[in-house]
Amino acid sequence: MNSERTRVLTGITTTGTPHLGNYVGAIRPTVQASRNTATEGFYFLADYHALIKCDEPARIQRSTLEIAASWIASGLDPEAVTFYRQSDIPQIPELTWLLTCVTGKGLLNRAHAYKAASDKNHAAGHDTDADVTAGLFMYPVLMGADILMFKAHQVPVGRDQIQHIEMARDMAASFNHLYGEHFVLPQAVIEESVALLPGLDGRKMSKSYDNTIPLFAPSAQMRKQINAIVTDSRAPGEAKSTEGSALFQIYQAFASPEESAQFAQAFADGIAWGDAKQHLFERIDREIAPMRATYEELIHNPDKVEKLLQVGAAKARERSAPFMAQLRSAVGLRTLSSQSQAKAEKSSKAAAPSFKQYRDKDGQFYFKLVGAQGNVLLQSKGFISPRDAAAAIAQLTDQGAQALDALQAQLEMIEAPVRQEVLANLSFIHLNSENKE
Ligand code: TRP
Repeated sequence: MNSERTRVLTGITTTGTPHLGNYVGAIRPTVQASRNTATEGFYFLADYHALIKCDEPARIQRSTLEIAASWIASGLDPEAVTFYRQSDIPQIPELTWLLTCVTGKGLLNRAHAYKAASDKNHAAGHDTDADVTAGLFMYPVLMGADILMFKAHQVPVGRDQIQHIEMARDMAASFNHLYGEHFVLPQAVIEESVALLPGLDGRKMSKSYDNTIPLFAPSAQMRKQINAIVTDSRAPGEAKSTEGSALFQIYQAFASPEESAQFAQAFADGIAWGDAKQHLFERIDREIAPMRATYEELIHNPDKVEKLLQVGAAKARERSAPFMAQLRSAVGLRTLSSQSQAKAEKSSKAAAPSFKQYRDKDGQFYFKLVGAQGNVLLQSKGFISPRDAAAAIAQLTDQGAQALDALQAQLEMIEAPVRQEVLANLSFIHLNSENKE
């Protein structure tokens, strides 16, 4: 186990059959990322999230199989990463509760999915929360638990999920502030090059618009669906615009820049829509066809997939179980036998030093570094502008003790015995600010 590697984590909600949009937007980039040996990958099937949107048990089960099989058929190596099903990790709902207790309700009110639902109700003159489950409301907290449980540094997601990662950071920061530095603050990773794939009708390819092309549909069906992509009415021989063309954008997501440039030229030269569709079908099929056999084999042998997921879950629980034990203890859910930890916490809580800024009678701006017991460790000289005082604080926060020499002229003398304490407190502040970045 190498805990030094950058941890990358992402999940896919198991509510449907994977389509080309899922492939281009999530499956393919995560498979590529999983091959980077400098990172450690966590890839999972978000079936608890699925319950928020779907009350059909058979569909959730089927989707879990299909997404798992798609991921593996697309090249995800379950041995090289931790590949698991969310609901096999009991610590995730357990952590969800701990996070629930440090998450502001107001923060969740602002989450896009919930806000969209309540805005829609509002516009229709219904009660704000009509048909809104508490599950939808809590969606970001469950997602926060997914991410924070495995101390993920990076979370590759679509743009619509950025807010959720930011919320996970907020939850991590609140928890860390209250209980000590347990969580890593995650970062969303948005692949600029990953296309938002349009669907058959030109809107974003999404199950909710019913405009998708299934990833592993049999060849003939895929051809039929590609033929159904909406185009304009330009006749063969007439120049066609690539701009706003769903057909072209889908092609681009599968082709090299050179191939795309050639296709654009064909558009300009007036390629018939029928031929363009044929060309698109062939290009997609070239990428998908070799994976189809693996997909079919897994779909027809669910036991194989189940076994892989069980191995992955055991691997995941090796992390989640001890970490959850640590977290439980941190919040006070712990054995009554030992009371020593509580005492240590009392003193460590008081030990957070901070900068205090103020304006003195002379009209100048000052700051001081105040230590654990309210003792002044560092005293600035007067600044004419509050911005200069703030800049000096920022420098001390960013650089820690290193900034002391540069700022010498702005600070009062630090006596030798105090200096050690100043240094220790500055590095504390510095480290905490780094963790929060
Ligand atoms: N909410 C994500 C989506 O719909 C799926 C998901 C659940 C997820 N938990 C996650 C993604 C944790 C990244 C990390 O796309």
